Amino acid sequence: MRRARRVAMAAAALLLGAFAVTAWAGSPSGSTSAATEFGATVSAPTRKVVEGRELFETSCSSCHGFDGKGLKGQAPSLVGAGEAAADFYLRTGRMPLDQVGEEPLRGEPSFGNAEIEALDAYVGSLGEGPAIPKVEPEKGSVSEGMEMFTESCAGCHGIGGKGGVAIGGYAPPLGEATPTEVGEAIRVGPYIMPRFSEAQITPADVNSIARYVQLTQEPEDAGGFGIGHIGPVPEGLVAWLAALAALLLVARLIGEGLGGSGADDAGEEPR
Ligand code: HEC
Ligand code: HEC
Repeated sequence: MRRARRVAMAAAALLLGAFAVTAWAGSPSGSTSAATEFGATVSAPTRKVVEGRELFETSCSSCHGFDGKGLKGQAPSLVGAGEAAADFYLRTGRMPLDQVGEEPLRGEPSFGNAEIEALDAYVGSLGEGPAIPKVEPEKGSVSEGMEMFTESCAGCHGIGGKGGVAIGGYAPPLGEATPTEVGEAIRVGPYIMPRFSEAQITPADVNSIARYVQLTQEPEDAGGFGIGHIGPVPEGLVAWLAALAALLLVARLIGEGLGGSGADDAGEEPR
């Protein structure tokens, strides 16, 4: 009798145990702890990939699939997207996307630096793709950068990098883009932006374009043109910059005029 009870209890315990294991395997957090235990035994670079995969499963897989190969009607496969694409989309806060079908827009990043590095590593591990470029604007040439920007970028982003409407989308202003993001965008071609190979735009060209983009960012920060910052510049460029400065001034005056200084629009409520 006692023995039979013990057997029954053991069977019940076994059943409970089996149930718990099944529930654990089925729950999303099950994979997390498994990966953490696993993480302790793998080498450093692989651990980053493992950490990245965990983040990916919770934040990205609903659209890109558990293996990153994409889900039909949701999001593209990330095989071959490369670390550059992951880094660009994460640092500019474009991913995770809020809603399928929207143009990804710049915003506050959802992840800290370590998490972004882990996700970059994981996406990079899915298949060969563009690496994060090393961009050194100080090695670039402003005049060459301006020429290439005018030729390849201004059609969408505007000659002063202030953004514009492109067919099928909105080309954002480049005022917040870091040199690395400029390089990444060139290699990745986000959304409707074309991607450029190293044969079309060499790494040295990227340095020059990034330097020119920095220059277009300066007027707003410094309130004037930092000719002094950029060293000797061709006369034509100075004339062109003066024209741009005049344009900006006109734009500002028009802006102020529309906003109303209060003095000449009588009858309006005081602000
Ligand atoms: C709501 C759905 C959704 C979520 C969640 C989401 N994505 Fe995306 N993702 C998309 C869509 C749609 C695109 C295609 C947009 C485009 O063409 O620019 C995309 C594009 C990308 C690209 C560019 C692919 C390429 O070939 O250049 C990367 C990289 C990326 N996502 C990474 C991520 C990461 C990492 C996460 C999680 C942190 C994430 N995404 C979460 C929908 C999503
Ligand atoms: C056909 C139009 C088009 C051309 C040409 C183009 N871009 Fe873009 N670019 C876009 C669009 C659209 C986006 C926004 C992508 C998105 O929403 O994911 C973008 C995004 C960017 C961003 C990210 C900006 C930010 O703040 O996040 C950078 C940097 C950039 N482009 C640089 C360049 C450079 C440099 C060139 C020239 C080598 C170039 N683009 C050429 C359309 C274009």
